[in-house]
Amino acid sequence: MEISGPITPSQVSLLLGLLPVIVAWLYSELLEHLNNSNPPKNGADFGSDFVENDEKIHLLKGGPSLASPSQVRKSSPSFLRFLSMDKEFLLENRSTLRSLSEFGAVTVFFYICDRTNLFGESTKHYDRDLFLFLYFLLIIVAAITSLKKHQENSPVLEKSVRYLNRDQTEEWKGWMQVLFVMYHYFAAKEIYNAIRVFIAAYVWMTGFGNFSYYYVRKDFSFARFAQMMWRLNFFVAFCCIALDNHYMLYYICPMHTFFTLLVYCALGLFNKYNKHGSVIAVKIVACFAVIVIVWEVPSVFDFVWSPFAFLLAYNDPDVSEPYPPMHEWHFRSGLDRYIWIVGMIYAYYHPTVERWMEKLEKTRVSLQILIKSSIATICLLVGYVWYEYLFKLEKHTYNVYHPYTSWIPITVYIVLRNITQRFRNYTLALFGWLGKITLETYISQYHIWMRTGGPDKQPRKDLSLIPNYPMLNFLLTTAIYITVAHRVFGLTNKLKMVFIPSGDDKRLMYNIVVAAIVSVTLYALSLVLLNLPKMLL
Ligand SMILES: *[C@@H]1O[C@H](CO)[C@@H](O)[C@H](O)[C@H]1NC(C)=O
Ligand SMILES: *[C@@H]1O[C@H](CO)[C@@H](O)[C@H](O)[C@H]1NC(C)=O
Repeated sequence: MEISGPITPSQVSLLLGLLPVIVAWLYSELLEHLNNSNPPKNGADFGSDFVENDEKIHLLKGGPSLASPSQVRKSSPSFLRFLSMDKEFLLENRSTLRSLSEFGAVTVFFYICDRTNLFGESTKHYDRDLFLFLYFLLIIVAAITSLKKHQENSPVLEKSVRYLNRDQTEEWKGWMQVLFVMYHYFAAKEIYNAIRVFIAAYVWMTGFGNFSYYYVRKDFSFARFAQMMWRLNFFVAFCCIALDNHYMLYYICPMHTFFTLLVYCALGLFNKYNKHGSVIAVKIVACFAVIVIVWEVPSVFDFVWSPFAFLLAYNDPDVSEPYPPMHEWHFRSGLDRYIWIVGMIYAYYHPTVERWMEKLEKTRVSLQILIKSSIATICLLVGYVWYEYLFKLEKHTYNVYHPYTSWIPITVYIVLRNITQRFRNYTLALFGWLGKITLETYISQYHIWMRTGGPDKQPRKDLSLIPNYPMLNFLLTTAIYITVAHRVFGLTNKLKMVFIPSGDDKRLMYNIVVAAIVSVTLYALSLVLLNLPKMLL
């Protein structure tokens, strides 16, 4: 097995960190096994049920659990107990250790697929017929197996339907995500403009979802904030470390992080006054003002963003005449700079529109049909004009208009999707399922579905596990890819609950400090290890 490129200190640190975790996990499984085969006689029973429970209490409280016999040892900090391989501690945290090990194994798998020559690669090939065939096949399968009806008027669901309408947005994400990743896999250049619209729709949802959440729940706590950052960046951070990539290679992640931060700030600042409509209006205007100043006034962008170059710079090593390092961030963030604000505005008016719709749906049927069909006709007309005069433009020209016009197709979709009660209440659960794991499918596609082959490179090739059988290979790699992405989604959430407990800021601070110390130590250690051969010579 040949490895491409030199090994970085970060990669060594990751490996150094992973090994003890795996050892600890295996040891904990062994302990568990021994405990199960000869259970202790009195009281202190560590049978699996007990451990599971104990662990749940442990997770919930985020601290020493009450059910434990040896209180004294329990109250010593958990990291020290990990280092000393405290048996009780390992048993309690067996499933966390298992998750960490599995997550580590995933990063190693990514590395093997992408950076070694163990598996092959194949060139991308686009065939419109095949592309559409696969997409429609998926739709048919989804329609047959997973059409789901929701009870809109049930009182239990009311709130979620009102403010989040998760099923629908997730299904929408699914529709787009499938096309988005297939566009990459088959290099379907002709749907470039559509992909731009999809990404705008995701950013719209970032504004919409986060606004609704913070406006209604008013939870601006640090723990909640940290959880949000973890959700968006945990996986991508480890991919960057394991594969020596820049954050901007996965540009969707910095973009969503940034726009989420903006929504958080917009609502979080002076949040006491959010109940006044005028304050919200001022905030929205302020958001527009910030964006206009930073993106439309020449050289302000460079001034504001240059301190963040360490995080956001990117150069494609395969391009002979590279752009300036911050060009990628300027381009990507610029395309969708307004649509998140549009999402916030829609979220603000969402309850009002819903009330209108309720009222409308209670009126005479003939009037209802008249109003609804006129709305639908207007939408179709607007959609058609947009399609004819903007969507069909050549991609560079289209990109110029995109920031100011992407709200048109998004609005048309939302209106048509909600136009009748019947239509609104049905979703395709399969697409919803895919929509939940978009972040993971987005990141994983680079390395275990396609192949980049080196640090910061774009995935120009597809991963090939079955050479010379492109369709069979597609089937196999897709199955692995979706499974891994789904697992990572679960692991990210599980580890988030363990390491970022809600409502226990002291423990959260402790975790952050320990994480910092561990990272620095591991990094120093790996620097020494890497330089050892040189020093000895
Ligand atoms: C906020 O936006 C991020 C990024 O799109 C998303 O992952 C997250 O689910 C949103 N939060 C809520 C509460 O909708
Ligand atoms: C309409 O549909 C969109 C996406 O499908 C959804 O996010 C939104 O909540 C719906 N709006 C109403 C008023 O039901």
